[in-house]
Amino acid sequence: MTLKHDVLVVGAGLSGLRTAIELADNCDVAILTKVHPLRSHSVAAQGGINAAMGPDDSWEQHAFDTVKGSDYLADQDVVEVLTREAPKAVIENERWGTAFSRTEDGDIAQRPFGGALFPRTCYAADRTGHNLLHTTFEQVLRKGITIYEEWFVTSLVSKDGKICGLTALEISTGEIIGIVAKSIVLATGGFGRIYGKSTNALINTGDGCALALRAGASLKDMEFIQFHPTTLFGSNILITEGARGEGGYLFNSSGDRFMKNYAPEQMELAPRDIVARAIRTEIEEGRGFENEFVHLDLRHLGEDKIEARLPGIRDISIDFAGIDPIDQPIPVQPGQHYSMGGIHCNKDGITSIPGLYAVGETSCMSVHGANRLGGNSLLETLVFGRLVGKSVSNYIKSCDFVDSSCVEEMAFKDRGKLQAMVVRQEGESPHNLRQEMKATMDQLVGVYRNQEQLEQALRVIRNLRERFENISIGPSDIRFNYSLVRTLELENMLTLAEIITMGALMRRESRGAHWRLDYPSRNDSEFLKHSLFTLMKNGAIKTEYIDVTLGQFEVKERAY
Ligand code: FUM
Repeated sequence: MTLKHDVLVVGAGLSGLRTAIELADNCDVAILTKVHPLRSHSVAAQGGINAAMGPDDSWEQHAFDTVKGSDYLADQDVVEVLTREAPKAVIENERWGTAFSRTEDGDIAQRPFGGALFPRTCYAADRTGHNLLHTTFEQVLRKGITIYEEWFVTSLVSKDGKICGLTALEISTGEIIGIVAKSIVLATGGFGRIYGKSTNALINTGDGCALALRAGASLKDMEFIQFHPTTLFGSNILITEGARGEGGYLFNSSGDRFMKNYAPEQMELAPRDIVARAIRTEIEEGRGFENEFVHLDLRHLGEDKIEARLPGIRDISIDFAGIDPIDQPIPVQPGQHYSMGGIHCNKDGITSIPGLYAVGETSCMSVHGANRLGGNSLLETLVFGRLVGKSVSNYIKSCDFVDSSCVEEMAFKDRGKLQAMVVRQEGESPHNLRQEMKATMDQLVGVYRNQEQLEQALRVIRNLRERFENISIGPSDIRFNYSLVRTLELENMLTLAEIITMGALMRRESRGAHWRLDYPSRNDSEFLKHSLFTLMKNGAIKTEYIDVTLGQFEVKERAY
């Protein structure tokens, strides 16, 4: 069986849904997703969405904060689009029914967030992603968009250099099915689960990036991994920056508000790369608790404010740490949170392969540079979802379907590959490889990096990739075979782990979230550049640097 749609959107988080909504009136668009849309990771976004809406704020101020926060690696033309379009995106979702928190006057409330000169983050208590995802999904239902739910994409297919379809595993039946399409939009989110300590959902395994790489597209800026400063010690569940935006303090074991030593002006609301490094330094220099965490103290905010603004944080702290923030501080440590890098594309989502587009966290339009500001990620999904949808609509006007034979051939090949995996009786457990990969990335490619550790990480990851060739997933049915799905995800993650580490080794400077202890300064003369990674026919990864698009904001040192 081979199916056919004009456009396939892979991923049903906010980026994918918003793109599909934009396309639905113009063509036959379908969404493929490995989980139900409402289980996409966008649902976990807590603190809010940025937009310059206040009378004293402006898109230019928002753009400046974003560029400065990015350590000047963001492409300024893309930042301009993000920040100019922001209020429109927020209002659109408000009209669709998102229950934003309000001021006394009934306006959409905005809270301070890290690295921002104004309280610019609109929020729905501390469940903003949950609210936005539900209202956006309602629009998808209203438009009657086809959804292939619990399908896992195995390959992208192209002919004469143009994208022409994909193959996917229908998880419930174990069948590999080909789908012909004029265009494919990858909106599969980030790859945080390469790390062990991560705020990401278990589904965030970088499938879109790995698919694009295998199809011949390039990945960009992969070494820039964001570590959120405050994840709950033990489970690494996100404790929103909104908790500090509402006035929460960070204390070390001597009772010091230590941020005064790292960012005396902005204190707890410095950009997250700076706060994450400060916390790691406090812990590593012996001023943490149990050598593992510091305290996030909300007690002075009082019960009423905590209940009104941070009810989810209270629930999470009670349920997962046995701590009620109304009368106890929350134990927090940095954890992987976001991937600034991704599929190399421009602000319309256009990649180097005609017909292939990327949007949201899986893409790298270079809007976040070396460090993303909190609240800019939900914004990116909605702004660029709409714009990429428009750009795909234009593209498909001038193209035809190819005959389905190339998609069928790829489906045949993928069936063989999966069959071989399922029948192999002996070999290593993919679970063990996954655990080794995560521990390696946590320990050797974390907040602080150096050459020796990165080289060690690269050796381990390459060895894991070799061992992957001999894994056995154990006896199992072909239907609902989640061991198989986890194994395919592992293959994707190992590919990306190697590239992240290569990028971190190549970049001999410290910028944004990438901090090299052996090169502790930013080096604009050599590295004010985007890194690019392309898979060659011989299986090697070609690396190069390309220019950053500068603009109205002059490149300066960052001070907070
Ligand atoms: O801290 C947070 O609520 C996270 C927000 C974000 O990553 O944008």
